[in-house]
Amino acid sequence: MCGIVGYIGNKSAVPILIDGLKRLEYRGYDSAGLAILENGSIMIEKTKGKVQELQELVEESSFSGTAGIAHTRWATHGEPNRKNAHPHLDCNSDIAIVHNGIIENYVALKKYLEDKGHVFKSDTDTEVIAHLIEDDYNGSLFETLAISLAKVEGTYGLAVISKKEPDKIFAARKGSPLIIGKGKKANYIASDVAAILRYTNEIIYLEDGEVAELTCEDISVKSEDNIHVRKKIQQISWSLAMIEKDGFEHFMLKEIHEQKTSLLNTLRGRLNYEEGTARLDGLIKYIEYLKKAQRIILTACGTSWHSALIGEYLIEELAGIPVEVEYASEFRYRSPIINQDDIVFVISQSGETADTLGALHETKRKGGIVLGICNVVGSTIARENNAGVYIHAGPEIGVASTKAFTSQVLVLTMIALMLGRMRNLPLERGREVVKALREIPDLVGEVLKKDEEIKKIADLLAGHNNALYLGRGYNFPVALEGALKLKEISYVHAEGYPAAEMKHGPIALIDTKMPVIVIATKDAIYEKIMSNIAEIKARQGIIVSIITRGDTKIKELSDNYFEVPSTPNFISPIINTIPLQLLAYYVAVKRGCHVDQPRNLAKSVTVE
Ligand code: G6P
Repeated sequence: MCGIVGYIGNKSAVPILIDGLKRLEYRGYDSAGLAILENGSIMIEKTKGKVQELQELVEESSFSGTAGIAHTRWATHGEPNRKNAHPHLDCNSDIAIVHNGIIENYVALKKYLEDKGHVFKSDTDTEVIAHLIEDDYNGSLFETLAISLAKVEGTYGLAVISKKEPDKIFAARKGSPLIIGKGKKANYIASDVAAILRYTNEIIYLEDGEVAELTCEDISVKSEDNIHVRKKIQQISWSLAMIEKDGFEHFMLKEIHEQKTSLLNTLRGRLNYEEGTARLDGLIKYIEYLKKAQRIILTACGTSWHSALIGEYLIEELAGIPVEVEYASEFRYRSPIINQDDIVFVISQSGETADTLGALHETKRKGGIVLGICNVVGSTIARENNAGVYIHAGPEIGVASTKAFTSQVLVLTMIALMLGRMRNLPLERGREVVKALREIPDLVGEVLKKDEEIKKIADLLAGHNNALYLGRGYNFPVALEGALKLKEISYVHAEGYPAAEMKHGPIALIDTKMPVIVIATKDAIYEKIMSNIAEIKARQGIIVSIITRGDTKIKELSDNYFEVPSTPNFISPIINTIPLQLLAYYVAVKRGCHVDQPRNLAKSVTVE
């Protein structure tokens, strides 16, 4: 979703802004633009297309100004075209603004400003802020921003420049992520650390309602109440190499192949064999609450929601606590009942998903305890929850989540183990779980080595426009996730189903042209899934199965199969997801799709 970069320093701003925008491309966007303070004027370039086109445009213009702001837009209000691309200007082109988020009262504000003679040029909600600032301007943009933004309802992360104050750039945040980077004789604004990591790893996180003024040397921040705030500078441990492709054709493929390491990082220092448990330091403050929790609610969106579904199986099996899983978008708006002994977990890779953040706020509003499971350190959810666990998967750039998903599931397994050991899970069983968890990275490594086998299966599936994914028990959510991956990046219509439910509808779809991907590794309900496969076979469906190594029975029934190592059932979702990620990836490549930036999708969805 929309990206922001801002720079003020002693170098030409254009290459820094373009580089920043390129690093934000993964978030998903449909137009791009920038504004530079150039010899007392504001110069603008915008395009409906890609950042590369913007770069070609600015190269022709040869701007050399040393301060500017830039944006990639994912359209909400107004179609994606040049006119609606950011930056937006006030009537006199004195002020330029880029904005992420939604101004909910923009219709009323626009009318108010038009009545006063302001002329609007775009269909966006954002443009009202430029005119509002113009209207309120009192000689100090730092002060005016606070005055204008007090009239705005909705969410924003924004960067502003003004030709009346050419040695400064400004930022403000409410509900949309925005950070400030402190450099040497230069300072930066960004919606995401990836945009500026090349230049600095010293980051200031703006809080909601804060407004910032940046010069080359200084950063001043004021709170919503107009009080100067001393902000803490935090060091980011991510390196530039972590956000580069490292020889892989796509970020997604790189991230799939990183899973042996990312899972190792998720586990690092957290398992205790002696006590047969996991130690999650982030949750220590809430241990007493966790001990007496009567119910756990897991809420999330997209792929993270699938990890929550697996979490339900894990926590109920290992800890015996009832679990409810809910889409964050539904949870926040349906008056959920949150009892005193409930614990709500919000799960989010980015830590910025608007609906998940909304669920967090709803829980807090009701006096509930909300714990987070996030990847991005310092993200809004990570900062606003009561406590939480980082999954430590490292930066995930591919829009379709892969390594974050397996690390989320791994963290949920550790939470289930920890909760179980606080209750009735026997020590010996706890130790078995610890032992099994330690083996995961190597097992994942084994599966990844057979990447070529999946490629061959993908070649056979790439010509089909539909697919059904089936699984049972722990592997039902895996089927959902496999189908989602295929939909997201290859635009093939895919449905995930509990295998036994197939008879209640989807079986009508099965014919010689319908590929059915069945996750059929050996577990307690293996025989049942075999019957489901027989039902598909009887209707000439194309069967692709994920089977336990050495299983001959399902192999014989399948048109294609992929063998995974034998694992306990509670580990199987992590292992079985890997071939499905690779399958989606290779089908998408074969179909010529834009794997890392699938159409219409955004990496972190910061609007409802
Ligand atoms: C978007 C992404 C998905 C992701 C979902 C939830 O839709 O494209 O890959 O699963 O948001 O994101 P989160 O950052 O909250 O896990």
